Parts: sequence; structure tokens; C-alpha cells
Amino acid sequence: MEPCRAEGDSDVRTVRPLECNLLGVTGGGPIPMPSIDSLQTLLTNDLRDLLDAENRLTKALPKLAKAAAHDDLRTALEDHLDETEEHVNRLHQALEALGEAPKAKPCPAMKGIVEESSEHLQDDYDEPSLKDAAIIAGAQKSEHYEIASYGTVLAYAKLLGLNEVITLLRPTLDEEKAADSKLTQIAEQIVNVEASAGDTSGAGNGKGSGRAQGNRVARAGNGQVRTGTNGRSANARRRSKRGSRR
Ligand SMILES: [Fe+2]
Repeated sequence: MEPCRAEGDSDVRTVRPLECNLLGVTGGGPIPMPSIDSLQTLLTNDLRDLLDAENRLTKALPKLAKAAAHDDLRTALEDHLDETEEHVNRLHQALEALGEAPKAKPCPAMKGIVEESSEHLQDDYDEPSLKDAAIIAGAQKSEHYEIASYGTVLAYAKLLGLNEVITLLRPTLDEEKAADSKLTQIAEQIVNVEASAGDTSGAGNGKGSGRAQGNRVARAGNGQVRTGTNGRSANARRRSKRGSRR
């Protein structure tokens, strides 16, 4: 099989067939490819990816907030929208600090997460709390992507001694983590508990829907370890209740 070719603005390189598949290239035609020749170039590329991700969230979060039934969840999403708009500003500043144009590059990952969340909003839910649980799950997937991505770019910036970039983006990482923790708190203390009220079978034995959202440990960019998506306590509480009844 002939390798396909990838063209950049100033660079042309050959892409092997496996890479063609990963890039979704089915034929042998030219595709735009960035030329990554240094860690700082990779950093710039990732900042542009994050800029697109944040831009997408500024459009998605209002829809999630509008669909949320519980006041605490709606407020949390609206608060994070305000932060997200500032995250966009900081990414512009970080790119300018590197002498780069503040242009976004398409982020297929966030595009997919947002599309999946939008699809779940169209599902038919018996209870508002079930829809809220799905909203939180989608929002946390986007937060985890951002936490991993900001962890990575901050690690690059630290290695490269880019203190201005670090000063700009470290608060963003902290806010993403805080938003994620807030969503976990709302899920564990309110939404998932209410959502589990109608579960009469499968719940608590590890086979119910709670297991899919269950207690996990996720490894974010460059070695950060965090707990996974919400929902741990829904099962944990059921187990605890069963145990106390024995
Ligand atoms: Fe953000």
C-alpha cells in the first residue's frame, strides 16, 4: 500500500498507512498537518486546541444550565460559564505571550463530548433528577478533558520556563478542578441520590447503572491522579444502607 501524504503550510511529510487511518484519511490525498518541531510548538498547538474546547463550552454550558432542574446544578453551570469566558481570555493572552496569534484549532475531543451531552439532553427521562445526573456526567467529562489538557500544557510551560504562561493558566486549572469537585458534590449529595430513588433492582449489587458512573481513579495529563466521574456515593450509600440494615 502506498503511504498517503500530509501537507502543511511550509512542510510536507509522508504519513504511514496506520497514521492515515488514525487521522481518518481514507485516500492518498493531501491533508493539512502542523509541523511540530519543538516542545514549544507542541505547547502552542495544545493551547489552540484548548481555545477551541473552551469556545465550544461557552456555547454548551448555557444549554446544560437551561436544561438543569436543580437550582444548585444550574447555578454551578452558570458560574462555570463565567469562568470559562475568562479561560478563553487567558488562552488568548498565553498565545500572545508566546508571540503566536490567538487562533483556535479544532478540538475533536471536546466536539464529541459536547455532541454526546447534547444527545443525552434529548433522551426521555422519567424524573428530572435522572436528566440532571446525565447533565453532570457530560459536564464532568468536559472538565476532565480540560484538567488533563491544562495539566499537560502547564507541565510543558514549567519545563520551558514560560512563567507568564504558568501565571495565566494555573488559576484556570484550579478553577476546572473546583468546578469538577462542585459537580461531584451536587451529584453525591443530591442528584444521584434522588435519581436512584426509582431503582428497585440491580441497585447496590454492582450491576446497576450506578456502576457505569462508579468510583474510578482517572489519570490526567502528566501524572495527576484524581477521582473519576460522579456517582460513587449513590452505590456507596446503597451498600452502606444495606449494611446497616443487616
Ligand atoms: Fe475552562
